[in-house]
Amino acid sequence: MKASTIAIDGPAASGKSTVGELLAQRLGYLYFDTGVMYRAVTWMALARAIPVEDEPAATALAECLHIDVTPPTADDGRQVTVLADGTDITWSIRRPEVDANVSLVSTYGGVRAEMVRQQRRVAGGGHIVMVGRDIGTVVLPDADLKVYLDASVEERARRRWRELERRGEPADYADVLAMMRRRDAIDSGRDIAPLSVPPGAVVVDTTDLSISEVVERVMQLVYERDRDGA
Ligand code: DC
Repeated sequence: MKASTIAIDGPAASGKSTVGELLAQRLGYLYFDTGVMYRAVTWMALARAIPVEDEPAATALAECLHIDVTPPTADDGRQVTVLADGTDITWSIRRPEVDANVSLVSTYGGVRAEMVRQQRRVAGGGHIVMVGRDIGTVVLPDADLKVYLDASVEERARRRWRELERRGEPADYADVLAMMRRRDAIDSGRDIAPLSVPPGAVVVDTTDLSISEVVERVMQLVYERDRDGA
């Protein structure tokens, strides 16, 4: 039986979104990055001057915000288009102020419950590569294949720093590294659905691998899974 639901988890900048998108293209599957949903809620809270420390307000926002993730509507390097209540926020959700606050917003149980509900609905049809922090543990614990991508924090900070440079938003490497450490601590230390290696997941360390090497490794896991029909 073909692996129809593929869960990819891992810390920030471990290669999840790049690898997930390429994998989905190879398989003809839908690619869905769940991080954009937490980012959309965070961006909208900042835009509406809702204090991100206000858990009930952030939860109420998550419950009423209409988030749409569609195929790219512009040829500007985006993987997908993200709309919040109809506004294109694809690039705004990558801004440093969202980076600085999204881990906090994603600790809130009510926010997570709403996001998980929506994510399960998206994944219901199968043929999907879903990427995040709790996909193999919470959202899709019965996924056909679970992969956990990892890399050293220094390498992940270098990747994020290069990405910011490419987007014309140069940053100080030391600041990016400090932010990465802070986000790792919040993502892994939170009470609800902390980032962890899901049971049954295959861990792939991407520190010294190119993107295509990681994609080949995961494709090999898909073939093995299909052959063994686990
Ligand atoms: O992958 P990313 O950097 O875009 O994710 C942004 C934040 O969202 C991250 O700090 C943790 C949170 N997140 C989460 O808690 N659960 C997910 N499934 C995806 C992201």
